[in-house]
Amino acid sequence: MTRGRFITLEGGEGAGKSTQARRLAEALRAVGHEVVLTREPGGSPGAEVLREVLVNGAADRWTPTAEALLMYAARSDHLDRLIRPALARGAWVISDRFADSSRAYQGAAGGLDPAFIEALDRGVVGEDQPDLTLIFDLPASAGLARAADRGAAEARFEGKGAAFHERLREGFAAIARAHPERCVMIDADATPDAVFDRIWTVVRERLA
Ligand SMILES: Nc1ncnc2c1ncn2[C@@H]1O[C@H](COP(=O)(O)OP(=O)(O)O)[C@@H](O)[C@H]1O
Ligand SMILES: [Mg+2]
Repeated sequence: MTRGRFITLEGGEGAGKSTQARRLAEALRAVGHEVVLTREPGGSPGAEVLREVLVNGAADRWTPTAEALLMYAARSDHLDRLIRPALARGAWVISDRFADSSRAYQGAAGGLDPAFIEALDRGVVGEDQPDLTLIFDLPASAGLARAADRGAAEARFEGKGAAFHERLREGFAAIARAHPERCVMIDADATPDAVFDRIWTVVRERLA
């Protein structure tokens, strides 16, 4: 059985990742693929327990170090229980956030040493890196305004302040520049239909 494909969607709050992850899953199913649509933090029962403590509560509830360890603990469970088995049977896996969120949130925006994150990543993700990462780019204020309209649930990271979210946007852009073989920047400041058209073009070009 051919290994499936692994696509991750990354970017700041309210950029449209979850909206487009659902659309991409539908479109790939329509052309006949088995699709596993999942998310981080979370995606497996154990990782969803960790999600609860990561996305709720006060913005400063965890230090960047503790946050990174919790994220990679959740990611390890998610990979072993859901992502790796799905890829092994040939499914296409779409994850709404993955390891670049650790690099951007705890690293670029949170100030954690990138070498620490890369050490965790080698041990936990290893060879199972995404085949394609779509990085949604939107001014931080616009994303936060969209996210605020969504309500107060799971809003811990939204509470980290404007400067944090500006560093986050720059952090994601830097990841895209550093890994052009894997990452494509998506201009998220457009209608949902226009964003999806761009994504579908990129997915066909890169993974056809
Ligand atoms: N292209 C878009 N233009 C305007 N609003 C959007 C767009 N895409 C999503 N939204 C809306 O913005 C909010 C955040 O979208 P969502 O997909 O949940 O973002 P994310 O998962 O990146 O935080 C939702 O209310 C959604 O309906
Ligand atoms: Mg979302």
